[in-house]
Amino acid sequence: MARSSVITPLDVAAIKKDFPILDRQVHDHRLVYLDSASSSQRPQAVLDAMDRYYEHTHANVHRGVYLIAEEATAAYEAARAKVARFLGAGSAAEGVFAQNVTEGFNLVAQSWGRANLRAGDTVLLTEMEHHASLVPWLMLKEAIGIELRYLGVTDDGQLDLSRLDELVDGVKLVGLTAVSNVLGCINPVRQVADAAHAAGALLVVDGAQFTPHMATDVAAMDADFYGCTGHKMLGPTSIGVLWARAELLEAMPPFLGGGEMIRDVRLDGFEPNEVPWKFEAGTPPIAEAIGLSAAIDYLEGLGMEQVRAHERALTAYALQTLPDRFGDDITLYGPADPERRSGVLSVGFKGIHPHDLSQVLDQSGVCVRAGHHCAKPLMRCLGVSATARASWYVYNDEADIDALADALAEAAAFFA
Ligand SMILES: Cc1ncc(COP(=O)(O)O)c(C=O)c1O
Repeated sequence: MARSSVITPLDVAAIKKDFPILDRQVHDHRLVYLDSASSSQRPQAVLDAMDRYYEHTHANVHRGVYLIAEEATAAYEAARAKVARFLGAGSAAEGVFAQNVTEGFNLVAQSWGRANLRAGDTVLLTEMEHHASLVPWLMLKEAIGIELRYLGVTDDGQLDLSRLDELVDGVKLVGLTAVSNVLGCINPVRQVADAAHAAGALLVVDGAQFTPHMATDVAAMDADFYGCTGHKMLGPTSIGVLWARAELLEAMPPFLGGGEMIRDVRLDGFEPNEVPWKFEAGTPPIAEAIGLSAAIDYLEGLGMEQVRAHERALTAYALQTLPDRFGDDITLYGPADPERRSGVLSVGFKGIHPHDLSQVLDQSGVCVRAGHHCAKPLMRCLGVSATARASWYVYNDEADIDALADALAEAAAFFA
C-alpha cells in the first residue's frame, strides 16, 4: 500500500533518542508508545534534572537557612515562575502546585465552591468532562445541594454550543475541558469564557490535554481557573498546577491544613500563609517541580507551535490511513478535521472489546489505552462502554501509526 509521508517540523528520530524508554523491547518488538494522553514518557533531561537535584541540592524548602535549603527553595520557586510564564500567567503567585490536576479541581470545588455556592446554585459542565473535573462538583452537589447542567456533544464528536446562552443563564461557574481526552476535539474556550462572564459566572478550564500539546495563554483564554498535570507533558508524576486569578486565590479559604500553609498557629486558631503557599500544605513536590521545569525547557526547545504542527500532521495521517485500510471495520470518534482535534484518537474495531484489542496490540509492542478513559458519562453518550484510544506526542512518527495499523490487521486476523 502506498503511504503518504508526514511533513513535520520536528526531527522525531533525534527526539526518540532523548527518551531512554523508547529503546526498550516488549514481547520482542520495539516499544510503540501510543498512550501519551494517559501519561507521557520523560526525556533524559528531565530524569537528569531530578537526579541532579537529589544528588546535589535536596533539603526541605521554605524552612532551612543553610545553603542547600536555600538552593532547594530557589529552584522550587524558579520552577513555579517558569510554569507561570509557560501558561501565560501574570505572576508566579497565581500558580499553585498540587499533586495533579485532579487535586487542583478538588481545591477549586472545596475552597471556592464551598465559600461561594449555596443550595440551588448551578454549575454548568460538559458531558465530555473527565471525572477529575466532574466528580468534585458531584461531591458538592451531594454535600450542599448545588445543581449541575451540561453542554452536550454533537453527532460529529464536538461540543454542542447550540444551547450555550440558554444553559449558561443564571449559573455561577462553568467547567470546560479545553481538549477532550476521548474525542480529541479542541474546544472553543474563549467563546465559552465570554458567555460565562456575560452571565456573571467564572470559568474553570481543564487543560490536562491542552497544555502538553499547544501554546497555552490563560489570559487570552480569559479563564478564571486553569489546571494541568505534569506527567502528561514530559514531566514527572505527582505534580500538577492550578492557576487562578490572584484576587480569587486571595479570597479563597485554604483547602488542606498543616505545615507550610500557615503564617501563625495558636491553640485556638491559625492565620493562613500568603498565596500561593496558603494552598500548599505539607512538604511540596520539590523534585517534581524541578522535573516539570526541565520538561518545559524541553518543550520550549522544540517550540510549542512546532509540537502542535507535528501532532496535527500525524493526526491527519492517522485519520487518512486507518479508514483507508479498514473501511467500515473501524469507527473513529471525534471530529474528522485534524485542525479541530489534538493527537488523541478513540476507536472501535470490528466489535472487538477494547480490552481484548489492547492486549493483542501489546503483543506487537503497541501500547494503547482501553476503557472508559475516566469519562463514563461521555461513553454513555457515545453508546459504548469503552473505546481503544491511541494518542501520539513529540516522539511518535508515521512509522508508529503504521505499526498501529499493522497490529490492528493482526488483531483482525487473530479474532477472525
Ligand atoms: C482531560 C483530563 N482531565 C483531567 C485528567 C486527570 O489528570 P490527573 O490524573 O493527572 O489528575 C486527565 C487524565 O487523564 C485528563 O485527560
